[in-house]
Amino acid sequence: MSIKRIYDDIPLDVWKKVLNENMDYSFIPEAMDNPCFSSVSTVLDVGCGWGANIRTLKNKYNINTTGLTNSLQQFDLLKNEDIILSDAEDYVPDKEYDLIMFVQSITHMKNSVLKNYQSATNKIFITDFVSNEYKYQYDWDMRIRTKIEYEYMFNKIGFEIKEFNVWSYEKYYPFAQYWLDNINKHKITNGHQMIMLKRLCEDILGNMHRVRDVLMCDIYAERIK
Ligand SMILES: C[S@@+](CC[C@H](N)C(=O)[O-])C[C@H]1O[C@@H](n2cnc3c(N)ncnc32)[C@H](O)[C@@H]1O
Repeated sequence: MSIKRIYDDIPLDVWKKVLNENMDYSFIPEAMDNPCFSSVSTVLDVGCGWGANIRTLKNKYNINTTGLTNSLQQFDLLKNEDIILSDAEDYVPDKEYDLIMFVQSITHMKNSVLKNYQSATNKIFITDFVSNEYKYQYDWDMRIRTKIEYEYMFNKIGFEIKEFNVWSYEKYYPFAQYWLDNINKHKITNGHQMIMLKRLCEDILGNMHRVRDVLMCDIYAERIK
C-alpha cells in the first residue's frame, strides 16, 4: 500500500466545518483520560488524523507525541509537529516509544500491522469498534473485530490485554449527531470519506449499531514478561 490521497478530495476547510475545533476524528475523545497515559512521556499515534490526540496529550500530560498518517493533507497540516508520512502497514519504527496507540485507526488495518510495532514499545493502547461477530465493511476497508480477535492479535506479538473497557452507545451518539448535523447543515455531498462518515453516523443514530451489536472499546495491552 502507498500514501493515500484519501482526504485530498475534500478541502481542509470542509473538514473543519464538520469536525470540532480540536479536529477530533474519533467518537470518544475521553479515551485520552485512560490512566495508561499518566505514566508515559513518549507516544506514537498511528493513524493520527488531524492531530487531535497529539494536542490533547501535550496539553493534558505534557507528552511528546509523534503522529503517523498516510494522508498528505493531514501531514501537511501537521508539518510543524513530529509527524511521519507513511502507510502504517509498511512502517517499522526506528526508535522506541513508551506507548503506541491506534485511536479508531486499526479498524482500517490488517491484523498483521501490530507486528511492525511490537519491538518499539511495551505498551499498546487501542480505541476501536467491537462486536460479538467479526464484520468487514468493504467500502471503507473497515474491520469490526471481536474481543477474542483482539486477544489473538496481541497474543501473536507476545502482548496480553490488561484492560478491556466497553463504552455505552450513549457515549458516542453525541459526536455522531454533531458530525451528521454539520454535514447536513453545510450540504456536503461529495468526497468518499465524507459519504462514509455520514453513513456511519446515520447507522449509529438509526440504531443500526445497536441492532448489529457494535460498540466501542478501549484496549490496553502490555508485553508479556
Ligand atoms: C477515524 S480516523 C481517526 C483519527 C485520529 N486517530 C483521531 O482520533 O482523531 C482514522 C485515521 O486512520 C488513518 N489511517 C487509516 N489507515 C491507515 C494506514 N494504513 N496508515 C496510516 N494511517 C491510516 C486515516 O488517515 C485516518 O486519519
